[in-house]
Amino acid sequence: MAHKNLWWQDGAVYQIYPRSFFDSNGDGNGDLRGIEQKIDYIKNLGVDAIWCCPCFKSPQVDNGYDVADYRDIDPIYGTLEDWKSLVKAAHERGLKFIMDLVVNHTSDQHEWFKNARSSRENPYHDYYIFRDAGDGKEPCNWRAVFGGSVWEYNEATDEYYLHLFSKEQPDLNWNNENVVREIHDVVRYWCRLGVDGFRLDTFNNIDKDLTFPHVEPLPGSKYGRGTRYCVNRPGVDLAIRRLRKDVLDEYGATTVAEVSCVEKEVAKRYSDPACGEFDAIYFFDGLNFDQEPENKFMPKPRDLAAFKKALNEQQQDLFGCGWQALFIDNHDQARGVSRFGDDKRYPAESAKALANAMYFLRGTPYIFQGDEIGMTNLLFDQIEDFRDVEVRNAYREHVVEQGEDEQKWLGLFRERSRDNGRSPMQWDSGMNAGFSEGTPWMPVNKNYAAINVERQEGTPGSVLEFYKKLLAVRKQYPVVFEGRTEFIDMEDPVIFAYKRVLEGEVLLSVGNFSGEKASFILPDGLDIGKGRIILSDTVTCLSGKMILEPYECFTAVFR
Ligand code: GLC
Repeated sequence: MAHKNLWWQDGAVYQIYPRSFFDSNGDGNGDLRGIEQKIDYIKNLGVDAIWCCPCFKSPQVDNGYDVADYRDIDPIYGTLEDWKSLVKAAHERGLKFIMDLVVNHTSDQHEWFKNARSSRENPYHDYYIFRDAGDGKEPCNWRAVFGGSVWEYNEATDEYYLHLFSKEQPDLNWNNENVVREIHDVVRYWCRLGVDGFRLDTFNNIDKDLTFPHVEPLPGSKYGRGTRYCVNRPGVDLAIRRLRKDVLDEYGATTVAEVSCVEKEVAKRYSDPACGEFDAIYFFDGLNFDQEPENKFMPKPRDLAAFKKALNEQQQDLFGCGWQALFIDNHDQARGVSRFGDDKRYPAESAKALANAMYFLRGTPYIFQGDEIGMTNLLFDQIEDFRDVEVRNAYREHVVEQGEDEQKWLGLFRERSRDNGRSPMQWDSGMNAGFSEGTPWMPVNKNYAAINVERQEGTPGSVLEFYKKLLAVRKQYPVVFEGRTEFIDMEDPVIFAYKRVLEGEVLLSVGNFSGEKASFILPDGLDIGKGRIILSDTVTCLSGKMILEPYECFTAVFR
């Protein structure tokens, strides 16, 4: 793909989890005005766009991923006027604004669903996926992402309705033309209000096999994975092509699709401009090499080679034909520093090594709030501290219902829960980390006095300054956008190194992902005389054999 300077390719995106970013009115919840007050902070990082997680009206069962009204802002975040003001402030600074669009499901509090569940004759009934409950059996035994069955009984109609996520998130019926029309109208509405693009939440789930085949139950459960019957089916391609043609192209709005379980051919189809589907894909399978496929709470030993292999596959699959988002973590993950680095002995070094490893790959960086200061996992020790519906459900299922060991599960949640990525942004060492003057909706990480923006801003060697430098230098080298990716010594268990290669220019990114010194041999064919370090806080010169300190990293360019 020739380099055409498309903003969503060249730029870097900053992901905001609005509830935890900055609280402007002291109610303990981050809000839109809060984001606006910090807009210069965001701009000064050197990013080009903001992706804001959902701020629509919502009962917040899944923190806004359960939308009750697609056209209005939830009062905890402010008003539509606040939203307009924020987008204006972003645009005035040259920042694009990407919204989160959650259209696989709505909230059960959406008017469509309230109508739909009231009677089989209601015109909205067919907006969702209902099945007769006559014989008292659930239509199939698929497990919901947040635990239990994907079916919930609805008394008023004596039916079950489908929910791939929580029972408060009923799935929309994309085979109903009215649903398609409604969603197109919603997208048009926000395009007219000036959004520059959409992150399409779990969009590759919208088409399901409506025969609902029975699946092999998971060990110890009556439910099993129905995944292959509800991901990446042909309806996904048709839906995005139509959405583009009918709405998105008219406004030049970009899309990045959150997708799972995508194999090479699907990844290509989704993001190859020639196919007219998504502009980019945000696939997270690669990051999950450290957990059991059937249970995200079950850690597997960290394996750097597996990580590199997964990333390499993505890079090779999409080279010359597609585009991907690059990220270390997000609001659905534990913090990368804790997961892939050493948050006890080398927190700052790990944060830098991760950024250095990830953000010189081919794709668009999506930096999750707090990563730029090296925020780490939380240390919650009681279930009451956790907020996430996924954790709460897993606790109920395993500890309350099945009587499993509570301490074991709390330990697993501490490592892996999504709450780790959702704690309030650490602005300074004052009350509540400067996030709020009220009581934060979830506890602030205890380490906020050590890790916060105020301490790092302008401080040489800080994670924040490293991120700024990284974002500035990556723009200066065409190889970052166009080069082919070649990993070096894929099997090496501690060194993460790759080249990006373009005619006349080679970029080399190297990091030591271990708590011990490690050596790196400069690969053949690179002329030290032509090389220059473009990013590192500690490595100052290149040599044939380099000894790297724990989590030390650098990036060099040869030309
Ligand atoms: C996506 C979101 C996640 C949400 C889920 C259901 O994966 O990123 O936060 O819970 O979709 O909408």
